[in-house]
Amino acid sequence: MMDLEATGPDGVRIRPAVPADLIGVAELQVASFTDRWSLESVRQLAGLSGAIVLVAERSSNPTVLGYLIGQVVTDEAEIHSIAVAEAFRRRGIGCQLLLAFEGMALALGAVSVVLEVAADDAPAKQLYESIGYQIVARRPDYYRIGRAEPVDAEVRRRFIR
Ligand SMILES: CC(C)(COP(=O)(O)OP(=O)(O)OC[C@H]1O[C@@H](n2cnc3c(N)ncnc32)[C@H](O)[C@@H]1OP(=O)(O)O)[C@@H](O)C(=O)NCCC(=O)NCCS
Repeated sequence: MMDLEATGPDGVRIRPAVPADLIGVAELQVASFTDRWSLESVRQLAGLSGAIVLVAERSSNPTVLGYLIGQVVTDEAEIHSIAVAEAFRRRGIGCQLLLAFEGMALALGAVSVVLEVAADDAPAKQLYESIGYQIVARRPDYYRIGRAEPVDAEVRRRFIR
């Protein structure tokens, strides 16, 4: 398994979340998506069997700069949500979160990782493309909350074993 405590570029490190991080995770989720989740929803997801929550932070400042909420169920892992604070995007943090999650999922027995991404979310789609996530299904008009027009979801998968 990769060293989750290793410090990457910009002094950013990825580590498993502790309960006290979930407020920062929920705040970043709200700032990043039109479909806003409550702190309670974040806590519920984090408490699911097989849940993995990772946060990105700088050692100099314990603010949550990025997070990934995922889950491993038998041999399949799923990403429920990933976001990086706007001021810290395009520095490789999203990629680091994804690769750290894949490493943990692999160690827990996952064969593949699946996720849903809005068809109009170009940065996220590009991130997933760059790592090798391929479109396996499309869900028409899947995203509606907080949007003027519904947007399709792409279901993407990558085999990690
Ligand atoms: C998607 C998101 C998590 C990416 O995080 P990030 O830390 O900026 O991503 P990275 O810096 O690791 O980018 C890795 C690669 O993804 C692609 N990418 C990321 N942002 C991009 C952008 N705005 N435009 C084009 N490509 C982009 C690039 O290929 C990039 O590699 P490069 O910088 O060497 O070209 C971030 O944009 C975000 O939080 N968006 C809002 C929430 C969201 O949409 N989450 C995804 C829901 S499925």
